[in-house]
Amino acid sequence: MNNPLLIQGGMGIGVSNWRLARAVSSAGQLGVISGTSLDGVLVRRLQDGDPGGHMRRALASFPFRDAARHILERYFVPGGIKRKHHYARSPIFTIKNNDSLNALNVAANFSETWLAKEGQAGFVGINYLEKLQLPNLSSLYGALLAGIDYVIVGAGIPLEIPGILKKLAKNLPANLRLTVENTEKNESFFSHFDPSSLFGKKLPSLKLPKFLPIVSSNLLASLMTKKATGPIDGLIIEGHVAGGHNAPPRGKMVLDESGEPVYGSRDQINTEKLKELGVPFWMAGSYGEPEQLESALASGAAGIQVGSPFALCRESGIFPELKKRIIETVMRGKSHVCTDPNASPTGFPFKVMRLIDTISEKSIFESRKRICNLGYLRQLYKKEDGSIGYRCPAEKTEVFENKDGVVNEGTPGKRCLCNALFATVGMPTEYDDGYTEKAIVTFGSRLDIVRKLLKKKTDFSARDVINYILKGL
Ligand SMILES: Cc1cc2nc3c(=O)[nH]c(=O)nc-3n(C[C@H](O)[C@H](O)[C@H](O)COP(=O)(O)O)c2cc1C
Repeated sequence: MNNPLLIQGGMGIGVSNWRLARAVSSAGQLGVISGTSLDGVLVRRLQDGDPGGHMRRALASFPFRDAARHILERYFVPGGIKRKHHYARSPIFTIKNNDSLNALNVAANFSETWLAKEGQAGFVGINYLEKLQLPNLSSLYGALLAGIDYVIVGAGIPLEIPGILKKLAKNLPANLRLTVENTEKNESFFSHFDPSSLFGKKLPSLKLPKFLPIVSSNLLASLMTKKATGPIDGLIIEGHVAGGHNAPPRGKMVLDESGEPVYGSRDQINTEKLKELGVPFWMAGSYGEPEQLESALASGAAGIQVGSPFALCRESGIFPELKKRIIETVMRGKSHVCTDPNASPTGFPFKVMRLIDTISEKSIFESRKRICNLGYLRQLYKKEDGSIGYRCPAEKTEVFENKDGVVNEGTPGKRCLCNALFATVGMPTEYDDGYTEKAIVTFGSRLDIVRKLLKKKTDFSARDVINYILKGL
């Protein structure tokens, strides 16, 4: 497997869908699907009637037939649910294993991977967030079942993933140490996944994929190469101008007059030091210009990872009307992306594009009831009785506080990214009182490439993005 020059960023939820990854992969670069919340994506697509029959086609190849049948019986609605967006939700992940949820999640990750790889020989990767721990073991197993080529993990320090991949690729049980607040020193909690207890003893043989963590500093790059539970196959080095979540600035968080984190010289990457680590690396974060690829290669990188331009191409999962609105805003030179230190419940800064009728607008955000009903970003904490509780800083402040959550000046600004990101890909939750969840749009800081790609047209394809970036080579 030769190293790709270009890695298309994994963008959740459902922005980097199988169509986008497939288009990039069949053009000879690394197409990446987002593995975030795929259980929810699958059940919503099935309740939308599975237009084109793609999910049913993928599920027909899922090796565990009973599980696939059960999922279809539970969630597939021919022609789509009558009350659009009044979706039945998949259960929320907890520390206790829920076999039917695990099976659903395995099938969802299998299906997305299977569709991205269907009928073409290019390489496909899947992106997970380290912060979003509870679904990760069953997610990884689902992707392995469909022959994923690369696993890419960001938003955290994924030291344990290489060891877990080795176990799961041999169909062995695996544990993942969970971040639980209020625990004593030396006290650990784990999530556990055992393929054979879920699917029986007859399991297919699996391939070990390559593993690429996403890090933001030389320090973390070095830590990953030295302390991970197995070898890593490369590093993606993501700067703070990238779309999605960003690492906080090193040292004390200082905000500028517009309330954005100030990054300084300690946040700069030293590529000479990276080279000394002896693993290939890819630069990411507003790297979409051909000259930037050339300079990355000249500094010793194997290539670049690019997100934002792919998020706006024809194949991406962003809801078409919203995509059109974003493109118009960019073309009018009116797009404004800020780094919001508070928006994300994860505590990481998050890039937000200001756009009408999205929760970037104060009034739209404040008209939403602060409920947590998808729960992917919930924090785990140890309760007084020793059991595990779940809380999200974006839920109602009193509820969060009653769960011993620490409320500070950033808490009121926390957005429910789970619901907003489902809305961004056209699958919002709609409630009985008529309220429909609104979208949130995240992009990297520089979108000039989009203007160049759109010079004479109204939209562009993933292949246009690739041809533009690779044109100098
Ligand atoms: C819409 C969007 C969603 C993203 N979601 C994720 C994600 O779920 N996981 C992740 O590791 N990175 C995520 N990213 C970051 C991209 O994968 C990529 O590294 C980054 O966008 C590169 O910077 P660029 O957008 O300036 O090209 C996201 C970026 C965008 C634009």
